[in-house]
Amino acid sequence: MSKDNNENNKEELNKLAAKMEKVVNKAQKKQVQDQLSGKQSSNASTSSSDGQKQAELRQQLQNMMKNLALMEQSSSSVAKTMGDHRFWNTQPVPQYDEQVNEVGPIEPSVPVEQVSKDPPPLPKEFEWCEVDMTDEAQVKELYQLLTFNYVEDDDAQFRFDYSAAFLKWALQPPKWRKSWHVGVRVASNKKLVAFISGIPADMRTYNVTQPLTEINFLCVHKKLRSKRLAPVLIREITRRTHLEGLFQAVYTSGSVLPKPVATCRYYHRSLNPKKLVECNFSRIPQKWTLARMIKHYKVPDQTTVLGLREMEEKDVPQVRELLNTYLSRFDMAPVFETDDDVKHWILPHQDVVWSYVVENPETKKITDMFSFYSLPSSVIGNPKHSTLNAAYLFYYAVQVPSELKEKQGEEAKFLKKRLSELFKDALVMAKKEGFDVVNALDLMDNALVVDELKFGPGDGYLNYYLYNWKCPEVVRNKVGLVML
Ligand SMILES: CC(C)(COP(=O)(O)OP(=O)(O)OC[C@H]1O[C@@H](n2cnc3c(N)ncnc32)[C@H](O)[C@@H]1OP(=O)(O)O)[C@@H](O)C(=O)NCCC(=O)NCCS
Repeated sequence: MSKDNNENNKEELNKLAAKMEKVVNKAQKKQVQDQLSGKQSSNASTSSSDGQKQAELRQQLQNMMKNLALMEQSSSSVAKTMGDHRFWNTQPVPQYDEQVNEVGPIEPSVPVEQVSKDPPPLPKEFEWCEVDMTDEAQVKELYQLLTFNYVEDDDAQFRFDYSAAFLKWALQPPKWRKSWHVGVRVASNKKLVAFISGIPADMRTYNVTQPLTEINFLCVHKKLRSKRLAPVLIREITRRTHLEGLFQAVYTSGSVLPKPVATCRYYHRSLNPKKLVECNFSRIPQKWTLARMIKHYKVPDQTTVLGLREMEEKDVPQVRELLNTYLSRFDMAPVFETDDDVKHWILPHQDVVWSYVVENPETKKITDMFSFYSLPSSVIGNPKHSTLNAAYLFYYAVQVPSELKEKQGEEAKFLKKRLSELFKDALVMAKKEGFDVVNALDLMDNALVVDELKFGPGDGYLNYYLYNWKCPEVVRNKVGLVML
């Protein structure tokens, strides 16, 4: 591709990005206004003119994201149209232009006896393996593969640096399966060069709850990219989930593939502006000084919510009920079927997850909870800093007074007030724990409070995908699933 073309593409990309930003911000503000004034903005019901406007905005956004992906691909000299997903075109996923109106499988499940007993072939220099997450040496191998080769931002300034303790936690929830921790090694020296994982989960889309597999940590070593290894890994994890009688999956990605069921945007709340500026993560706003920025993002030393304390094991049954009730507000959300699920996912886990509950001092009942997890990023090539300590907002729940439940505007106003009190304390706790920034997506009810709590929109988006499962698109404030 000629330089000029590249320049044109870049200019075009910048224009699209600016336009997209406007559309997204407008849609976001509209959504919050609608929620506060009691209008429902579910994708499933776009009969009102507001619903239609929102649907149009979403469509515009999706088209722009497709264009962006297309241009990124064409600027890397592979002239690819969106119809050219050589792999994804063969898989049970909706096409980009497909309008989905019902909920259910795309293709029928097959009897386990008909599932192939053999993994797909790999190029002869590689071999399949299972990574044993109970063996510290193998955990370390996986940690190293991901630390040096996992997700980076577009400018290759930051790369996710999930800790070994985090990986053990993320990959071994109740009913985890070793056979779903799939690796590829170099046959000659056994070096781990690729990985994909699945964990079992129960997820509700609209009114259907379905056991499925959450796919995560797909990674191919940088030296082996663009050799079509990813599709082989995806086929193999699919075969292994089929062998266990599961035929649906959920996964997320920053890249646009056929076809997102939801798209959320990252928001960032600075806690350590000086470091974020030094890392090139944030910029000092025009006409501001660093001192002003530091003052702007200062958080109190103490929490203020009465009855707030760290979650303890005895809280598990109450938290499960509270959380499941709260998550029932959303169109795509996990269902915590057992106390063990909550014990695993929500109870504080040293250096991995922090969770807090609010206990009513009189009744001793848990009325609210929130949690966040630690996911640092390596700062690439920075002379001063090597790690950015980021906390990610995880699950939370608020007890909504029953008299408000019928009145949507009132409910949203209540949630906005309560969540801003709770998240203010979350910021205090995250600061105390040494985090530089708190990240959140605009899913669940987060959009109601991001502005007030000084979260700023980032340039990252996260697309949610379902495998062999169709359902109408889910608007961001109806997404209740947080993936790691
Ligand atoms: C993602 C990654 C494994 C893809 O490997 P690759 O060598 O770049 O791509 P391959 O040549 O092996 O395969 C390309 C195919 O995989 C698909 N693919 C790429 N990334 C994907 C993803 N995250 N999820 C699902 N499919 C993906 C592509 O769309 C393409 O299929 P298509 O032709 O149907 O569109 C690799 O780039 C990587 O490890 N990146 C860093 C970690 C990362 O981003 N992981 C994904 C987190 S969601």
